[in-house]
Amino acid sequence: MKLFILSLVLGIAWGRFHFFGPSPSYECTHCQPEQIHIAFGEKSNDIVITWSTFNDTEESRVQYGVGIMDKETAGSSKLFVDGGPMKRSQYIHTVVLKDLKYNTRYVYHAGSVYGWSEMFWFRVPPAGEDWPVRAAIYGDMGNKNAQSLSYLQDEAQRDKFDVILHVGDFAYDMDTDDAQVGDEFMRQIQPLAALVPYMTCPGNHEQAYNFSNYANRFNMPGPDSSLFYSFDLGPIHFVSISTEVYYFTRYGLKLIVNQYNWLKKDLAKANLPENRAKRPWIIIFGHRPMYCSDSNDIDCACEYSRVGILGVYGLEPLLMQFGVDAVVWAHEHSYERTWPLYDNRVYNGTKGAYINPRAPVHIVTGSAGCQENTDPFKSNPEAWSAFRSSDYGYTRFVAHNHTHVYFEQVDVDLKGKVIDSFWIVKDEHKAFKI
Ligand SMILES: *[C@@H]1O[C@H](CO)[C@@H](O)[C@H](O)[C@H]1NC(C)=O
Ligand SMILES: *[C@@H]1O[C@H](CO)[C@@H](O)[C@H](O)[C@H]1NC(C)=O
Ligand SMILES: *[C@@H]1O[C@H](CO)[C@@H](O)[C@H](O)[C@H]1NC(C)=O
Ligand SMILES: *[C@@H]1O[C@H](CO)[C@@H](O)[C@H](O)[C@H]1NC(C)=O
Ligand SMILES: [Fe+2]
Repeated sequence: MKLFILSLVLGIAWGRFHFFGPSPSYECTHCQPEQIHIAFGEKSNDIVITWSTFNDTEESRVQYGVGIMDKETAGSSKLFVDGGPMKRSQYIHTVVLKDLKYNTRYVYHAGSVYGWSEMFWFRVPPAGEDWPVRAAIYGDMGNKNAQSLSYLQDEAQRDKFDVILHVGDFAYDMDTDDAQVGDEFMRQIQPLAALVPYMTCPGNHEQAYNFSNYANRFNMPGPDSSLFYSFDLGPIHFVSISTEVYYFTRYGLKLIVNQYNWLKKDLAKANLPENRAKRPWIIIFGHRPMYCSDSNDIDCACEYSRVGILGVYGLEPLLMQFGVDAVVWAHEHSYERTWPLYDNRVYNGTKGAYINPRAPVHIVTGSAGCQENTDPFKSNPEAWSAFRSSDYGYTRFVAHNHTHVYFEQVDVDLKGKVIDSFWIVKDEHKAFKI
């Protein structure tokens, strides 16, 4: 009886006053975490967790662990105000989980004393360079008509990917309807982006208010507002660039120069003998292609990032100088792969086009699905065009080891059938010479 009264008193005390533990100091009506997504931090065993609440939760916490959530790390939030007429605001929270155990599956939830997310998991990749990296790669996925989304969710939840690369153009657009479309899109991708590091680059659809929805919602490594950065994963050095700095020059011509100088330095470092020996593959992704054979010629002549403005700061010579193995683009709502290519000329390998190719291989994969449908091709493509499809879909990528990488194109119009696949085989990775 005494025990009963005691537990009754304690129960009331707990319910009323939250005696034990941090107590909410105000009635928070919009403190439920949403739009949860993760990314790699400065190294592959640092995982950055990002989410939104519409009210200030005063704290940003992630509880996590191996099997059970017995650890906790705190982070911070920033107030993001959209540039639209309603000036809608939200708190974007970031927590960095550092020095996690390699090759280990963690569970986590994110939130505060005012409310927690459901529980998710992620897997920290293996240590070192010698393991097969599996990626999903695509661009141009919108809030409406996101044809590939259910396929991607299915594969992500069955642990088929170590990383996802979204090569620009999100939501259509993240700022639309005072950024409500951005919120909805971030909720849509949560089932995959909360589990698998979702690495991004900006596209033209992100340009509003100086890319502010993009820069605030995605937390990529490095200091440059997620516009350009690189990260290492297994045998690959991935580099994300903004092709948009060449087109939205009103936000600052200096961004072209900053990115160019940064890229040159980054690629030079990746080419230091000890680095290239460990991580031989260099793959760059950016939004607008240097080459494509869509019927919309204006869109395909995205020459500024390739040749530069007035002949300076063009990026294609850097691809040769630093032996970039493959470059992945989107923007065209289609899939296209090229033969090894430089300055409009094909440089096949001698024992097969992709066996020790003598120039970078380009892939355009922008058909994940959006309200602008897919793009048709012109009827007589240039000699560099190797395969084309205007169906909806996405690309799967596996870096098997130091000599072999594999790409394949999933066609969702054909219920997930693989319509194209190819290997790039290289005995040596170094500068290309013409
Ligand atoms: C909480 O969020 C709602 C919805 O965005 C907003 O209308 C309200 O002003 C916010 N309250 C506070 C105290 O921030
Ligand atoms: C746009 O944002 C970038 C970085 O996010 C910044 O360097 C640049 O100065 C900004 N431009 C303007 C015009 O505000
Ligand atoms: C490159 O190789 C492919 C595949 O073997 C071939 O179809 C194409 O004609 C070659 N191009 C050149 C310019 O050698
Ligand atoms: C690299 O991977 C390819 C494809 O799986 C395989 O054929 C080759 O033997 C591997 N090479 C090494 C050195 O393991
Ligand atoms: Fe685009």
